[in-house]
Amino acid sequence: MNAKPNGYFTEENSVEVVTARNAGAKDARLKQVMEVVTRKLHEAVKEIEPTQDEWFQAIMFLTKTGHMCTDWRQEFILLSDVLGVSMLVDAINNRKPSGASESTVLGPFHVADAPELPMGANICLDHKGEDMVISGRILDTDGKPISGAVLDVWQANDEGFYDVQQKGIQPDFNLRGVFRTGADGRYWFRAVKPKFYPIPDDGPVGQLLNALGRDPYRPAHLHFILKADGFETLVTHIFDPDDPYIATDAVFGVKQSLLAEFRKVDDAARAKVLGFKGWFWDVEFDFVLTRGAGT
Ligand code: BEZ
Ligand code: FE
Repeated sequence: MNAKPNGYFTEENSVEVVTARNAGAKDARLKQVMEVVTRKLHEAVKEIEPTQDEWFQAIMFLTKTGHMCTDWRQEFILLSDVLGVSMLVDAINNRKPSGASESTVLGPFHVADAPELPMGANICLDHKGEDMVISGRILDTDGKPISGAVLDVWQANDEGFYDVQQKGIQPDFNLRGVFRTGADGRYWFRAVKPKFYPIPDDGPVGQLLNALGRDPYRPAHLHFILKADGFETLVTHIFDPDDPYIATDAVFGVKQSLLAEFRKVDDAARAKVLGFKGWFWDVEFDFVLTRGAGT
């Protein structure tokens, strides 16, 4: 009998046989990644012991996920989001020193060429919703203001839709804007209070959430990208802590440090100065950037 292992596949040696076949991989990182993926995947299959039908269902789920993808719909990213993988990759790549603002997912609704606006501008172009003023400072980790920092903001409207989801209903660039800080590092702008909304749930990922008894909703939030020379770019949100879905964000994007206070203000004199008709929401939030390469 031949003592040398023949390399034929068995249930017991499945990982070793597949991994050994990749010995000649040209890219060492790919080889390492595939070794880990093979080990973990085989481990999962051995624990689950799927029937042939169940395995085919899994294949069909991934097939439908692929078919759902278009230039503007990325169902695989959505899958990664609801599995918590997007937030895990984000966390691994954005480990921050204490005191620095934390990051969260980018999401699919950012538009690259939003207009640069003067400080104080109202980004709500159709004036639908509850008035809100947002202000704060962009600081370094020593608490010093960052001059020339660029804040790119976008949010859903008071019905939970982004402008790009309602073309012809909302004006283009509704609830989007780019602001640049002066020497004091301060920013402020006006908007309306955003509402919670479902992630796109008319595809296989929505069906999966439904089957798992999970909500497709994201709690109300504003998105930000903050950039400044000599600092790491920060992709983040601020959240309304009183939102009904704050503890069950479909994509796990909420972090304690990103909860802002949404204060309801009934002050006629301030409302008049801000150009609001009555009571309004007041949100103050400072962002702290870490020094680094920037983008
Ligand atoms: C968003 O907040 O815009 C978002 C993030 C992940 C998936 C879907 C939407
Ligand atoms: Fe969003």
